[in-house]
Amino acid sequence: MDDPRQQPSETAPIKLRPEIANAAVYQQGRPAPEGGFKLSSNETPFPPLPSVVAAIEGAAETINRYPDSAARGLVRRLAAMHHVDESQVAVGPGSIAVLRQLVTAVAVSGDEVVYAWRSFEGYPSVMTLNGPTSVQVPLGADGRHDLDAMLEAITDRTRAVLLCSPNNPTGTVLTHDEVERFVASAPSDVLIVIDEAYLEFVRDEDAVDGLALIADHRNVVTLRTLSKAYGLAGLRAGYAIGDPAVIAAVRASGLPFELTTVTIEAAKAALDARDELDERIETIVRRRNGIEAGLIDQGWHVTPSQGNFVWLPTGDDTLRAAEILERHGIIARVFPEGIRVTVGERESVEPLLTATAEIVRGLEV
Ligand SMILES: Cc1ncc(COP(=O)(O)O)c(C=O)c1O
Repeated sequence: MDDPRQQPSETAPIKLRPEIANAAVYQQGRPAPEGGFKLSSNETPFPPLPSVVAAIEGAAETINRYPDSAARGLVRRLAAMHHVDESQVAVGPGSIAVLRQLVTAVAVSGDEVVYAWRSFEGYPSVMTLNGPTSVQVPLGADGRHDLDAMLEAITDRTRAVLLCSPNNPTGTVLTHDEVERFVASAPSDVLIVIDEAYLEFVRDEDAVDGLALIADHRNVVTLRTLSKAYGLAGLRAGYAIGDPAVIAAVRASGLPFELTTVTIEAAKAALDARDELDERIETIVRRRNGIEAGLIDQGWHVTPSQGNFVWLPTGDDTLRAAEILERHGIIARVFPEGIRVTVGERESVEPLLTATAEIVRGLEV
């Protein structure tokens, strides 16, 4: 079983910061077995586009030189795409790195960062590295953020609130109206990050649009990634959009040269290929909806997913369920209370639904 909270076992010969000595090691999704499917990391099953590979090859010719430290070409492209000023965009090596910069900019040890739980397993690691205390507010029974409880969890020590929509791993979205009410009720000097890593797969028209909120709320930042719909997980590129003063602080919290020339050029090529990528995104959305319909037919009580993954609420039966999935060649992300399965290759759907049919027969749902 994947255990994201696995502890390092070696005793270090030097004096470590206690939070680092006790830190959980991020546990990556396991590789697929021979003939099986790796559906554990919410990656795209499609290979890189030829135009992206060509951009990588072109950039490879220049790697004796440092990259553009500010990745200006990429920032310009993102700003144009989102109709914002370049001063409103900060890029980094993956959105988790940008999130770390955001947290670095606002919080130190003794401060608090509020987020829903269960949510993206990278959040606790960011807090451990930066020092603030994680205040985890349990999801509601419907797998959605409990925004009232999150508001109540905000104290004088709160420096940031993370809202994840669609939520990883439950797939549920926050509505625009409820986030607008939340932002209006939260202190305006607390950073609110709307993590929209899976935005491109969202088809619910009521879902929050982080970008639309930043114009009226200077403390709101939307966090995006090129790892999912854009298919660049292996290159590491993510970005934040927000108020210029907040974005300046994010940039000040990063190191120079974090994005390589190869990543910058590949990211620009991927953004240019959005039409081609849209077809792939639609394929994944249709596949997700098909899997979800299949699960409901089998008797599963699924939370409606708007991401490129589905959530199996297997509860106490999780280990048995993971074994059945694995027997059918499916490597998924196993949590104590359920299993997240990425929407992957077309050929993975049949073994997945065969496995879930077997699992649900033994579940009390
Ligand atoms: C909700 C969420 N946010 C952020 C990330 C980090 O993405 P990356 O660092 O690859 O941009 C992930 C990755 O799975 C995620 O699920």
